[in-house]
Amino acid sequence: MPATALRCRICETEFPLDPVGVCSRCFGPLEPIYAADRTVTRAEIEAGPPNIWRYAPLLPVAPPAEARLAPGNTPLVSAPRLASAVGVGELLLKLDTANPTHSFKDRVVAVACAKALELGYTTLACSSTGNLANAVAARAAAEGIESAVLVPADLEPEKLIATAVYGGTIFAVNGTYDDCSRLSVELSFELDWAFVNVELRAYYAEGSKTLAFEIAEQLGWELPDAVVAPIASGAMYSKVHQGFGELLQLGLVEGARPRIFGGQAEGCAPVARAFADGAKVKPVRPNTIARSIAIGSPADGDLAVATAIASGGTIRAVPEEEIPENIKLLAETTGVFGETAPATALGALREAVRRGELGENDRVVLLVTGDGLKTPALVADTFEPVLVEPDADLILERLGVHV
Ligand SMILES: Cc1ncc(COP(=O)(O)O)c(C=O)c1O
Ligand SMILES: [Zn+2]
Repeated sequence: MPATALRCRICETEFPLDPVGVCSRCFGPLEPIYAADRTVTRAEIEAGPPNIWRYAPLLPVAPPAEARLAPGNTPLVSAPRLASAVGVGELLLKLDTANPTHSFKDRVVAVACAKALELGYTTLACSSTGNLANAVAARAAAEGIESAVLVPADLEPEKLIATAVYGGTIFAVNGTYDDCSRLSVELSFELDWAFVNVELRAYYAEGSKTLAFEIAEQLGWELPDAVVAPIASGAMYSKVHQGFGELLQLGLVEGARPRIFGGQAEGCAPVARAFADGAKVKPVRPNTIARSIAIGSPADGDLAVATAIASGGTIRAVPEEEIPENIKLLAETTGVFGETAPATALGALREAVRRGELGENDRVVLLVTGDGLKTPALVADTFEPVLVEPDADLILERLGVHV
């Protein structure tokens, strides 16, 4: 296991690899650090299992003895019709809808749960905008432990049911995600539950690096020019950038670090606003149809802004009305039904092209982080069937085909 300690991103104090969410000196966020002399080869990775655990030498936890319902190895597919609709040279979709609960959250939860099991926890918990709750409840069911999740009570019913089915406890909170998040911090002091995004956050967040590792490996150990991601807390966006950096550092790939572009929905865009203003993130009260990324007080918002600047990318707010349009555009041009979060990322991509930041010379990866089947109401207006009697002649007549 190559991680050696947790380190505060602000004051750099180091802590043992315990379940601690923030620095006890300055309340800064913690990140695992790894042995300076760690090495890993492409051959070692390629000999690993066909899931995220092939990157175990780059993760802060030992892989599970028996990988159950392992996420990762999701398809990276070419989308030439969407590439020309949008105006970039090459566009690839990273289909994280292919994970066990149809979002990238299975990656982060698998890593956090491995740590929780190592520490002997028997309840996996989280606060969630929906997808994380799905992933926590399913992971707990797969491992045979309990789960408890805190979600806003008014989430899309599909997301609530897709969590309930696994049998854990759902606390439907009469409030926003940010209320759920505050409750989870308070409860984490009282309960011996493993809150994946509180005291296990340092381990959890590392799981998103596997998106970067997989993209590079799937491109034959090459880097794309740019990656476009949706942003809620900002953790995944920032970790994808770090993941590419580590591959370069370890000599597993060569070339320039990809530029990372981020999208937020206009109705909850504290990170995009901070990027535009060159300021610190100021919390907002979310009012957006993109519920999965409706975090008003994003834990890694400032890190995401710093990541955009360091990588040469941008973070933009996408108009609310463009989000359902983008769900349809993605579906109609690629056959992929994404949810609001990837549709928001697609909005950021389109905006980057309009501003000349991306174009015909770029090979771009769009992260399809969640599945449209969990948010179907937003595109219900596409359902305009031709109502017919069960009679072929009537259908032919309607089509103007005379036999
Ligand atoms: C589908 C989807 N994409 C992207 C995100 C953003 O992740 P992060 O909070 O790491 O920014 C989320 C967060 O819930 C999500 O559900
Ligand atoms: Zn600190």
